[in-house]
Amino acid sequence: MVNHFTWNPGRVIIFVYKEALTTPALAHRQAKTKAKGAITMAILVTGGAGYIGSHTCVELLEAGYDIILLDNFSNAKRSVPDHIRTLGGRDVEVCEADILDEEGLHSLFSRRSIDAVIHFAGLKAVGGCAQIPLNYYYNNVAGTISLCRVMATRGCKRMIFSSSATVYGDSNTVPFKEDYPTSATNPYAMCKLVIEHILRDIAAADSEWSVALLRYFNPIGAHPSGLIGEDPNGIPNNLAPYIAQVAAGKLPHLNVFGDDYATRDGTGIRDYLHVSDLANGHIRALVYSETNRGAQAINLGTGAGYSVLEVIRAFERACGKEIPYQVTGRRPGDIAECYADTEKAQTLLQWKARRGLDEMCADMWNFAAKQDQI
Ligand code: NAD
Ligand code: WQD
Repeated sequence: MVNHFTWNPGRVIIFVYKEALTTPALAHRQAKTKAKGAITMAILVTGGAGYIGSHTCVELLEAGYDIILLDNFSNAKRSVPDHIRTLGGRDVEVCEADILDEEGLHSLFSRRSIDAVIHFAGLKAVGGCAQIPLNYYYNNVAGTISLCRVMATRGCKRMIFSSSATVYGDSNTVPFKEDYPTSATNPYAMCKLVIEHILRDIAAADSEWSVALLRYFNPIGAHPSGLIGEDPNGIPNNLAPYIAQVAAGKLPHLNVFGDDYATRDGTGIRDYLHVSDLANGHIRALVYSETNRGAQAINLGTGAGYSVLEVIRAFERACGKEIPYQVTGRRPGDIAECYADTEKAQTLLQWKARRGLDEMCADMWNFAAKQDQI
């Protein structure tokens, strides 16, 4: 549920570290940036305290960008910005705010010069969204409209948007290409589709806009430090966090949703990609948007698919424990196979995922095992 719909200037929290943390790698990067005489760009990251947003913030800091992290903390812990500062070794301004509050956004844009927006903020649980469609359309669609209205008025016309492979619907064949027909089987997916259309229309109407519609496949894993990762409230809907909770002894076993698909072992196949690779894709998209206008849908996936049983085995290797599971019926709405055609990302962004399934599972387990200590 969304908790904050109003902007209260008194609640805007600004954390600025007086002395930036330094690491040899960071010092090297900063020296390189200085040597090139680069102008530091300021990026607004909506939903920056969330799972993908937090990893992207770390990558942005490491790449030398300044960031303003905006989040209403409806699905994030307040400790996340501190972890981002530690990992990124740089200052971070945090705005506790809601994208639905245009007045508040105007006040932020009038105070800070913002070069581009990476827009993660949104409700994301597919399970349950059909019961509360208005919450989804209001928060995700109306929130994006509010953000874009402010950006347009303030002359900030570069947007990197978190779309999803869910827009390919249930009737395409793998690998999914960006020019395939799109469709939606639930309100969450419909929000992504509607937002994609809105952003395309904005870019068509005003040639100064540059919009990347990044269609993520299945991000899993965590930062190797174990400080940030996916930490869902309640019982997880998605496979990887569910397995992690089984491994940690918080859930008794995994339910495998069907072993009668036309796949190599009968279980569903997905394109799992490491969240740090995904985060890096946003840096590449930002660079691309500096010199390219218009709207582009771009897949971010590895191009390879793994079955549910293969993910279980990889996680067992990572944690050194057996993951108990039982096969149940198919989950309504699931498709047999989903993986990306990655050519467009390679050509336009020069981006390719680097990390494999074992590394994703090892990092996820490292994060899960540390949760009780941080
Ligand atoms: P997340 O829930 O961890 O992060 C979203 C963040 O947005 C949260 O921190 C939440 O507090 C914040 N937020 C929500 N509504 C807000 C509002 N109105 N104003 C300000 N902040 C708000 O989710 P995530 O997994 O990091 O996903 C980020 C984006 O990527 C989402 O748009 C999601 O739909 C999309 N996406 C995620 C996946 C995935 O598997 N995780 C796949 C495809 C696309
Ligand atoms: C993966 C596989 C399940 C849980 C979802 C959204 C999608 C995108 C990514 C946001 C499937 C099987 C799962 C479990 C299982 N999110 N499974 N037992 O469904 O591919 O995609 O997250 O945009 O929109 O729909 O991911 O992790 O839920 O499922 O057997 O307890 O694992 O059937 O084959 P999915 P998932």
